[in-house]
Amino acid sequence: MVWEELKLRAEDDYSVDMDITHCGICGSDIHTMDANWGQPNYPVCVGHEIAGMCTRVGKKVTNVRVGDRIGVGAQSGSCHTCKTCTSGNENLCRQKRTGTYNSFWPNGDKSYGGYADKWRGDCRFVFRIPENLSNEVACTFFCAGITTYAPLKRHQVGPDSIVGVMGIGGLGHYGILWAKAMGAKVVGMSHSDKKRELALELGCDEYVVTSDAANLAEYKNEFSHILCTGTSSDFKWETYVPLFRPNGVFINVGLPEWKFPEISPMLLAMSQVSICGSNIGSPAEIEDMLKFAARHNIKPWLQKYPMKEAPKAIEDFKAGKPRFRFVLEN
Ligand SMILES: NC(=O)c1ccc[n+]([C@@H]2O[C@H](COP(=O)([O-])OP(=O)(O)OC[C@H]3O[C@@H](n4cnc5c(N)ncnc54)[C@H](OP(=O)(O)O)[C@@H]3O)[C@@H](O)[C@H]2O)c1
Ligand SMILES: [Zn+2]
Ligand SMILES: [Zn+2]
Repeated sequence: MVWEELKLRAEDDYSVDMDITHCGICGSDIHTMDANWGQPNYPVCVGHEIAGMCTRVGKKVTNVRVGDRIGVGAQSGSCHTCKTCTSGNENLCRQKRTGTYNSFWPNGDKSYGGYADKWRGDCRFVFRIPENLSNEVACTFFCAGITTYAPLKRHQVGPDSIVGVMGIGGLGHYGILWAKAMGAKVVGMSHSDKKRELALELGCDEYVVTSDAANLAEYKNEFSHILCTGTSSDFKWETYVPLFRPNGVFINVGLPEWKFPEISPMLLAMSQVSICGSNIGSPAEIEDMLKFAARHNIKPWLQKYPMKEAPKAIEDFKAGKPRFRFVLEN
């Protein structure tokens, strides 16, 4: 990682300028830097949990004003015209999707993320930060928060649910906070015993070590949902599908470089389990999440690093040290 000056995209009627105060570190930043998803288009400025102060708005911007505290997540643009977008699923737009970094704006300019002092983007993916949320907290809602909130809400997690949250990292810890606030019983699912006390402190009712087959087997027929935010490449459906009650839902949000293994049609049919994925969230889901977070006083666990220490923060992130999200501060 090196610091260098990059050119912001061109201004237009919808553009918003931000002086960045905070940016969270997401597992996706690491995948990008490690070229797990293909060769990055250098130079890349990662960071897509961005919060700051609005300093300028284009002529057609009505949702935010200069002086507002604002934030943006992993998506910065969509086509706004395809059926996917007009049905409120902009996060899945296949026509023209601008990622907050390592991507392109419709005008051909490159998109640059939040390990920086300034950002310029599109107001349609920019949100006003509610008064009771500080920027350092709010930034993490825009990726880790929404990626876990949206699928739990979509799949109707509630008081009758038993939700396994697999992988207790940045996304996973949010998954636990949301599922508890939705009234579910929550089981932390981690690959080792190391996070047991912390997971219980976060609100988990129980904790299971996924590398311990006997411990996992205690959950046979139990789960209504498993939210998978991270697991190892030796993952097997035969281990997890039996843990579901009828019609359970396996929701995957982790994006490792490896593929899920094959699943037997018999196993799938006989369990009636649904296997699905989820990609961040739509602008409407983000607004809904911010309201839910305020109502339930959701408090993510964060550790701060000065922006200039981003390389050190990345090193610590890779060593598995976050408890549970790192935030860079200008
Ligand atoms: N779908 C989306 O829209 C979306 C959005 C944001 C991020 N993501 C993806 O979600 C994933 C998680 O991101 P994050 O920021 O939460 O990362 P993170 O803080 O590193 O958390 C990932 C967790 O997964 C578990 N894990 C990871 N690798 C593992 C391995 N090889 N073996 C066993 N367990 C492993 C670990 O939990 P335990 O120690 O508890 O086992 C780890 O804490 C990343 O792949 C990221 O790209 C997806
Ligand atoms: Zn992310
Ligand atoms: Zn679209």
